[in-house]
Amino acid sequence: MRILVTGGAGYIGSITTHRLLEAGHDVLVVDSLIRGHRDAVDRRATFVDGEIGDPSVMEQVLPGCDAVMHLAGLIEVAESQSEPGRYFDANVAQPARMLDAMVEHGVGAIVFSSTAAVYGEPSSVPIPEEAATHPVNVYGATKLMFERLLDWYGSAHGIRSIRLRYFNVAGAMPDGSLGEAHDPETHIIPRVLMSLREGRREFEVFGGDYPTPDGTCVRDYIHVCDLAEAHRLSLERLGIGEEGGVFNLGNGAGYSNLEVVRTCAEAAGRDIEVAIGPRRPGDPAVLVASAARATDVLGWRPASGDLRTIIGDAWRWHTR
Ligand SMILES: NC(=O)c1ccc[n+]([C@@H]2O[C@H](COP(=O)([O-])OP(=O)(O)OC[C@H]3O[C@@H](n4cnc5c(N)ncnc54)[C@H](O)[C@@H]3O)[C@@H](O)[C@H]2O)c1
Repeated sequence: MRILVTGGAGYIGSITTHRLLEAGHDVLVVDSLIRGHRDAVDRRATFVDGEIGDPSVMEQVLPGCDAVMHLAGLIEVAESQSEPGRYFDANVAQPARMLDAMVEHGVGAIVFSSTAAVYGEPSSVPIPEEAATHPVNVYGATKLMFERLLDWYGSAHGIRSIRLRYFNVAGAMPDGSLGEAHDPETHIIPRVLMSLREGRREFEVFGGDYPTPDGTCVRDYIHVCDLAEAHRLSLERLGIGEEGGVFNLGNGAGYSNLEVVRTCAEAAGRDIEVAIGPRRPGDPAVLVASAARATDVLGWRPASGDLRTIIGDAWRWHTR
C-alpha cells in the first residue's frame, strides 16, 4: 500500500515508518519538524517538510495514497493547558483540513494516534474502550475531538478509521538506531534515564500519597516497536476493506513510578535516590489498559511487553 505518515519525523512516527517500509509498503512522510528530527526519517521514505493543515502540502502528498497514518500533533499536557489555542489548531483544526483534502483526493482510510488521556480519571481499571471519556486536560480533549470528527467524516464521506488509544509509550529500536528525543521531555522513563546518564544523584517523583501499593502513580507501558506493529496491523485491516474502530494499546500490567525508577537504575547499573515531590495536577492514580480487543480483532501480540526490555532498549538508545 502507499501510505502517508504524518508526524513521521517524531518518536513514534519514525519507528512506525521504518516498520511499514520493512513490511513492504511505500511510505511518504509529512512533518513540519516543529518537534521532529529530519535525520530520524528512514531514507527509503519520501519526505516533505510541511504542515498537515496546508492544502498545498496535501495536494503534493495525497494523490495516489491508499491510507493516512496520522501521528502529527502536539503532545505536552502542561503546554496544552497554557496554550489551548495552539493545541486545538495542531490537533483538531489542521487535521480537519487534512480530512477535507483526503475527501478531495479520494483517500478513504486513516489510522489515528489517540491516547489514554481521553479517559481522564477512570472509574475502574483495567480500562476497556467502552469506558466513559472525560478528558481532564486540553491535550486529551483535542484528541477526543478529532476522534469524534472521524465519526462525522465516516458518516458524511465514508472515511474508515482506526483510532489507537496508546497508554504510556516507551523504549527504542533494539539496535539503538531510533528512539525518544522529545524537547521538552516530560515522560518518566527518558527523564530518569537522562538523569542516570548525567550522573545525577536524585530523581523527583510527582506525588507519594496516591491510593496505590507504594503511594506513587501506576502506569501501563508499551514498547514503541509493539506499537508500530499495531499500526501495521490496523493499516492492513483497513486495506482489505474491514471496518474500523477504537482500540486500546497497552500491556494490561501496571508499574508504579518507584518500580520504574528502580528498573531504570538496574538497566543503567547505577544508583539514584527518589525524592517525593508534590502531585502534578490532573494525574490519575492508576491507568492500565484492557487491550483484549486489539488482540482479538487486530491479532496484536506484544512481543516486548516486559518493563525490563522496554527500559533496556531505551537505555541503549540514550547511551548510544
Ligand atoms: N508518546 C506517547 O507516549 C504518546 C501517548 C499517546 C499518544 N501519543 C500520540 O502519538 C503521536 C506521536 O507522538 P510522539 O511521541 O511521536 O510525538 P513527537 O512530538 O515525537 O512527534 C510528533 C510529530 O508531529 C510533527 N508535527 C506537529 N504538528 C505538525 C503539523 N501541524 N504538521 C506536520 N507535522 C507536525 C512534529 O514535528 C513531530 O515530529 C501524537 O499524535 C501523540 O498525541 C503519544
